[in-house]
Amino acid sequence: MKQKLLGLALVAFTASAAFSQTLFSTREAKFATGDNSDYKSAEYDDASWRKIDVSRVWDNQGVPADTRHGWYRIHFTPSKADLGKASLKQYLIVDLGTVDDVDRTYLNGKPIGATGSLPSDEGGYRSQWYTPRRYFIPVDDKNIRWDKDNVLAVHCYSGGEPGGMFGQGVSVRVAGIADIASLSCVPAEVKGSPGCKVELKGNLPSSISGKLKLDLVDIRDGKVLSSTVRKISAGNGKTADVEVPVGDNENTVLLATFTETKSGQELKARYEPRYILTPVAPEAPRFNTAAVYGVRPGSPVHFRFGVSGVKPMTFLSKDLPEGLQLNAENGALSGRLMKDGEYTFTVTAKNAKGMAAQTFTLYVGDDKMALTPPMGWNSWNCWGLSVTQDKVMSSAKAMIDKGLADYGYSYVNIDDAWEAPERAADGTIVVNEKFPDMKGLGDWLHSNGLKFGIYSSPGDLTCGAYLGSLDHEKQDAESYNSWGIDYLKYDWCGYSQKHNKERDKETLASYIRPYMLMEKYLREQPRDIFYSLCQYGWQDVWKWGRMVDANSWRTTGDITDTWGSLYEIGFNSQAGLAPYAGPGGWNDPDMLIVGKVGWSDKLRDSRLTANEQYTHISLWALLAANMLIGCDMSQLDDFTINLLCNNEVNAINQDVLGRQADRAVEDGNIQIWTRPLADGTMAIGVFNLGEEGMDVNLAKYFGQLGIGKLNSVRDLWRQTDLDTANPSWFIPRHGVRLLKVNAE
Ligand code: GLA
Repeated sequence: MKQKLLGLALVAFTASAAFSQTLFSTREAKFATGDNSDYKSAEYDDASWRKIDVSRVWDNQGVPADTRHGWYRIHFTPSKADLGKASLKQYLIVDLGTVDDVDRTYLNGKPIGATGSLPSDEGGYRSQWYTPRRYFIPVDDKNIRWDKDNVLAVHCYSGGEPGGMFGQGVSVRVAGIADIASLSCVPAEVKGSPGCKVELKGNLPSSISGKLKLDLVDIRDGKVLSSTVRKISAGNGKTADVEVPVGDNENTVLLATFTETKSGQELKARYEPRYILTPVAPEAPRFNTAAVYGVRPGSPVHFRFGVSGVKPMTFLSKDLPEGLQLNAENGALSGRLMKDGEYTFTVTAKNAKGMAAQTFTLYVGDDKMALTPPMGWNSWNCWGLSVTQDKVMSSAKAMIDKGLADYGYSYVNIDDAWEAPERAADGTIVVNEKFPDMKGLGDWLHSNGLKFGIYSSPGDLTCGAYLGSLDHEKQDAESYNSWGIDYLKYDWCGYSQKHNKERDKETLASYIRPYMLMEKYLREQPRDIFYSLCQYGWQDVWKWGRMVDANSWRTTGDITDTWGSLYEIGFNSQAGLAPYAGPGGWNDPDMLIVGKVGWSDKLRDSRLTANEQYTHISLWALLAANMLIGCDMSQLDDFTINLLCNNEVNAINQDVLGRQADRAVEDGNIQIWTRPLADGTMAIGVFNLGEEGMDVNLAKYFGQLGIGKLNSVRDLWRQTDLDTANPSWFIPRHGVRLLKVNAE
């Protein structure tokens, strides 16, 4: 874990260091243990102190692992002449690398930064080992002794576990523009048309002025279509915004360049118009959901036919099996079937514009759950620990009102932070004040044909430090049943405490055990509960997820809304996993990062570009991944709705053959992922993972794809048939062509 984070920190460091002038760097310090504030003074005599390497934690260097307090002293002489060479002279950055866990840092005896809390602080000890330590000092601070000896003293507290400084070493540099300011583009409506807001933010109390150049460029040939220059200034707590109309042309990009006046240093940002490809749905009814669904015998059926078209709409079935009911107004199917079998019937949907019918099969059997991957919503990527029942309800309502339920989205899942701090006297789990009525919420969802999901951990605590199910598994499964829960995400997290103490902790059995235990109690409930394992892919969970009756298993750590995360989780970590997914059990590369996300009560637009979002949804469709929307659905914009509600794209995800895509071609930045479909055709995603758009000719890869001759090629986002004689397209940076191909 630490090593992984360190890698990321280094990348960030290199990117921002482009313009900065290094005054000093080292891996060596003087070191002593103990909690003595005299050690911070520049004058303190450390001649007798031992030497230590600041790039490795102290317990690797002969310091007892249970040491709590340690002091590092680093001497350095900053040169005024070197400062003179820097073009921007506002701040010095003292970069300590990473500190496990808490630090108090001083320059010549004066505090310059602090991260984490010491046991003596209000609120007690709080580790922040993962936070990179970068402290800023104004270059005109009189405490800096130019051309003389300075002492950087770092008091480090480790909590009694292994600790100390580690990472890339300590450096002192003159901050570049990217260290003190940032330039970004966020979607915005500008005078009623699609556009973006270019924001220059100064992160420190200093002022930044310069020129902002805005070029609208054709991505195919780099031609500048229009260009403007504005003077702007930011800093001192002020953000400068410039609103720019960008239109909705998929072939353009806005390139923004800020040039700081005095130094000439630049910041760059780019914005891709959020162009919509999904054609407008017909007004007449159209069935958008797979024609199959499965339940265990005797389990309540909660299913909603996904049909687009103008409302009101009426649903009817003349040959509905006995034991089932169809809600004529919302298409919700309910009831129970006690006997195994395949129940085929026809459902019609009618509105003012026409009628449509679907022949549907309900499979009843012990192994018939999750015939296609789950589609729905989860609270985590938007609300994080700030989730409330009201927030869940507003997304659930939006699922219906904004038409997502017409495209098959049906699970409404509460993630972490619904649990009260203590169980009831009899051990029953209790909800916290943010969730006044779980049963009521479940009933409302079910009456609308939607499904209800929840989250817990096999440990005593969840990842968010709420109560987990340890030693209460049976009781919790029973509570879930009483609220009408249809989906459980069971997240390892706090179970590590118990696991670390187990004698057989090195064995696979010890990883499987907690999941087996909960499954036993879920199975005892008189309802189907989709079982979603979350333990970040450890011990190749895809190889044994089915053994514990799981319906999906997370294959990686947590996703976030950046290209780096999407690339790592979506492309790097999924290749080769296809054989393990199929009806009943799915690989889960984590939830969707589109729309307004934030993992807190502060939401922002996903930082993925438009093309990255098309890539994301295309890949998740190909991967037969759980399609759990992670944004606040009550704030869905048109771009995101169209991204999530393309019936031909979603049909790939929900294809009843249930074969996950695998990577068939890797050619430089081009990757092609293919997935066989139930109708004998093939879904193909042609991805350009590079930084520049490029032409890609599919014919070049026919050999690798096993294609002799193309009979038809359908562009699924645009829902148009393409020319089979010339299967060549321009694919933008981080973009995709998602195809359905009939080939010999
Ligand atoms: C872990 C999981 C996330 C989320 C949080 C909740 O990090 O991987 O998906 O459930 O816990 O605390």
